[in-house]
Amino acid sequence: MKPIQTLFLVFILILSACRTSPEFSYDIEKTAISDKAMVVSAHPEATRVGVEILEKGGNAIDASIGVQLALAVVYQNAGNIGGGGFMVYRDKDGKVKTLDYREKAPKAATRDMYLDSLGEATDKSRNGHLAVGVPGTVAGLFAAHKNGKLPFKDLIQPAIDLAENGFYLTKKQASSLNSKREDFVKYNTTPPVFVKEGEWKKGDRLVQKALAETLKRIRDNGQAGFYEGKTADLLVAEMQAGGGIITKDDLKSYEAKWREPISFTYKGYEIHSMPPPSSGGIALAQLLGSIEPYPIAEWGFQSPATTHLMIEAERRTYADRATHLGDMDFYKVPITQITNKEYLKNRMADFDPNKASLSKETEAGQVKESEETTHLSVVDGEGNAVSVTTTLNTSYGSKVIVSGGGFVLNNEMDDFSAKPGTPNFFGLVGAEANAIQPEKRMLSSMTPTIVEKDGRLFMVVGTPGGSTIITSVFQTFVNVVDFGMSMSEAVQAKRFHHQWLPNKVFYEANTFPDSVLTALTQKGQIMEERGSIGRVDAILVTEDGKLEGGADTRGDDHAAGL
Ligand code: DON
Repeated sequence: MKPIQTLFLVFILILSACRTSPEFSYDIEKTAISDKAMVVSAHPEATRVGVEILEKGGNAIDASIGVQLALAVVYQNAGNIGGGGFMVYRDKDGKVKTLDYREKAPKAATRDMYLDSLGEATDKSRNGHLAVGVPGTVAGLFAAHKNGKLPFKDLIQPAIDLAENGFYLTKKQASSLNSKREDFVKYNTTPPVFVKEGEWKKGDRLVQKALAETLKRIRDNGQAGFYEGKTADLLVAEMQAGGGIITKDDLKSYEAKWREPISFTYKGYEIHSMPPPSSGGIALAQLLGSIEPYPIAEWGFQSPATTHLMIEAERRTYADRATHLGDMDFYKVPITQITNKEYLKNRMADFDPNKASLSKETEAGQVKESEETTHLSVVDGEGNAVSVTTTLNTSYGSKVIVSGGGFVLNNEMDDFSAKPGTPNFFGLVGAEANAIQPEKRMLSSMTPTIVEKDGRLFMVVGTPGGSTIITSVFQTFVNVVDFGMSMSEAVQAKRFHHQWLPNKVFYEANTFPDSVLTALTQKGQIMEERGSIGRVDAILVTEDGKLEGGADTRGDDHAAGL
């Protein structure tokens, strides 16, 4: 080798060594207390961006936009510009509204598009180009920004910097990228930056130049920087290369929608959550309404009696979800009928404290005619609060990364009921209400929620976790209200989950002592241990008026106050 070549080689080696910092560790806080403002999100870099925006005079909406854009760079499993989400917003004067930026079925979608020649559901709704719904996130961020204070360019710049200069991977991120390597190769025509020689390691620096360019187009051209022009060209070219059906017309006609929240009370607390196309608000109202008459604080936290009651409420609620819930722009969802307390009392009339019901005998109530997502919670110094859950659906969505655009596309089409009664990725079944139709939004479980007590802000809460989102928010809330836990204790507490079908109670390791497992089994509950459930990020206003942030230890989630 000539000396000049040797020098060049040494230079390259030094450069690549600089891109890895095995010693690197983020300073992650799971509990934070502040007098003023708080940000809790799935990644320390994203939380930092949110806090810096608040420091510069941005409000909670501004911070939530900056955090979401940062998550699209540093937490690509779920943070996104190629997916969709929901926001619940309570302004400092107590006005609550919700923003729906859920993906939509492309105009060319058809009811049976995922069935094979024998009429069976295929995996095309989960992986690859046909799984992609028309992304809603960028439209949502611009709609939300009408309530912001700082210029949009100031909110997106931190994300551009993170994409352009890179950021360090955590151990969890490195192993998650490694675990999806084959999928990234299989579902992409050109290998994305997520694919590299050898394994990703903690402390590796991930630089995403193409993503930075896409974010700059959004900075410079607004919403049209994503839905029109070069980004739209790249997305549609990607679709055509891989057999997807999203067109430029689909992109241009996407609109985010403001909707009235689902609002209801539980033991004097006023709860506001997401309406359809999410099932979250309605299901949470059903769960809390079903257990409200019972003295669970007396029965004890995760005691056999309390757990059995909550499981039975979950069984009935998810049976209703499967039949009655879908996009209310396309299907008449009987919201008032199935959330009123008389209906819920009747629904629990056959609850037997000693015996599990059978899911096959638990039908949806009669109504008379008349694994990745991410959540962030923000409260600013003026008292505005934002609760956002956003997703690509499963980890890295469809696994398709737009060639030249550098962003991951969702696989949200799997949240439709591809075939009545056939479970989706999360084991959820559905029917007519959630059948595929052009431009319809697929049913979600995302449950961004804001709670008030005596007319004042009390809690901002939400989580990822597919079908377990609703039960995780439910349990976190009662942990505080009925069992007197702090925000952080409530977030870290172990969780369990029943979703009607399959007829099983899933629970995290070390949730129940043997005596409780035995008692529940004796009542007829079918208990099955599984991996972690949910990743709740929440904020509580404590009795002395401070803000307590709780970030879930199940992930890299980080809470920081101002
Ligand atoms: O909208 C929904 O309900 C799902 N697409 C959410 C997926 C999810 O939470 C995956 N995360 N672990």
